[in-house]
Amino acid sequence: MSTKGVRNFRPKVHFTPPKNWSNDPNGMVYMDGLWHLYYQNHPEQPAWGPMHWGHAVSRDLLHWEHQPIALHPDELGYIFSGSMAYDKENTSGFGKEGEVPVVAMYTSHRPEDGHECQSIAYSLDGGFHFEKYYGNPVIDNPGLTDFRDPKVFWNKKRKCWSMILAAKDCAYIYASPDLKNWEKTGEFGREENRVESTWECTDLFPLQTEEGEKWVLLVSMMALPGKSCANIQYFIGEFDGDTFRAAKQGEEPLWLDFGFDNYAGVTFHNYDKPIYLGWGVSPEYANQVPTGEFAGLMTMARELSLIKTERGYRLAAKPFGLDHLRAVSYPVADGDSLISERFGLKVQGQSGKIAFSNEKKQELVIEIREDVIRIDRSRAGAWDFSEKYCDKLHSVGEAKRLLSGDVDMELLLDVSYLEVFADKGLETASMTVYPDVPYEKISIQGDLMVQIYQLQ
Ligand code: FRU
Repeated sequence: MSTKGVRNFRPKVHFTPPKNWSNDPNGMVYMDGLWHLYYQNHPEQPAWGPMHWGHAVSRDLLHWEHQPIALHPDELGYIFSGSMAYDKENTSGFGKEGEVPVVAMYTSHRPEDGHECQSIAYSLDGGFHFEKYYGNPVIDNPGLTDFRDPKVFWNKKRKCWSMILAAKDCAYIYASPDLKNWEKTGEFGREENRVESTWECTDLFPLQTEEGEKWVLLVSMMALPGKSCANIQYFIGEFDGDTFRAAKQGEEPLWLDFGFDNYAGVTFHNYDKPIYLGWGVSPEYANQVPTGEFAGLMTMARELSLIKTERGYRLAAKPFGLDHLRAVSYPVADGDSLISERFGLKVQGQSGKIAFSNEKKQELVIEIREDVIRIDRSRAGAWDFSEKYCDKLHSVGEAKRLLSGDVDMELLLDVSYLEVFADKGLETASMTVYPDVPYEKISIQGDLMVQIYQLQ
């Protein structure tokens, strides 16, 4: 039996829409001390439908203020995912009398036949109100069924705008002097795409390492029913100004997350470090989750970096601004009561198990071993709202550890969302859980030292 809406599953420190549906983060940009988050939004129902861009702003990426809808569907279709360009030099010419235009680039998706092309809209008041460009679309469809999610960035090498988008089962890269006229400069993914799947929401950004600058390409890969979960793959390589090339990285694909609920994530524009947000529910069952009046949430904002490990460079994620949320932390022991349904844990030690449980005998288990970390949500709460939610592929998330020695792990449980950051953020997991009643007890086995703090 589904528990749709039976209790309040709304997380407190994670972004959720005021009501109804949300999916991908869109158009994220940092301007004048404000973080803008736009997101895929169906404002009429807690289910996917005609896509708008919802909007919220924050000064710390922890507390959000909802804003009116930024972009509504039009004659070209729904407003699918996309990004923002802070056009300081007014290359687009949209700014008059010294105004700095902020230009949204998004996919226009025609619901009748799925036709997808790229459009732009501009704002002259810092991202609150938008005018669509009369010349839309700015990139027409080249004959592909999936052709979407443009992510714009300033290309320092060519001194122009560049943009990467998902083109069926690979990524196309384009360049433009003015955000209106685009030429294709590159393609990536045909050989490297070992996981055969449809690509969505690509992103491309540089990161500094001790060996100089490296570029990271993120791609959300749709699920292959019965074979793989929807997840984000990444590649490390170089961008020569036209195209991206991946460095040799071994046989295994690299994944951003070993949970099931972190998808369609990209980074903010106009900030000097890549700050990432992802959609915190798998698209495979997001339409069925038992959250009632709202659907969808975002991960914590995360700062991404590259760390050199024995297996080469790997992406690491660190929750952004969490210091401001941590109240005093104190040690907890096996059998202690949990006094809130939102808390953080800091965990150190070699190996062991941590479980949260409630009177309904529901239990969320995190196991740490020398070589793996495993999270089992198969008995963590409601599961039968969707056949997929706790099937073989979606019950237990597991990561091979990239560092040896004692684990250093921090986890956040925010009512119905768990995020785990282990080994400097090299192993990260994000998972929804829907316990019928809040977890009230913690069990700790092994040699783990655990500190708890309330999420303010
Ligand atoms: C990813 C995605 C995007 C698309 C949007 C539609 O979750 O499918 O590719 O633009 O969601 O809502």
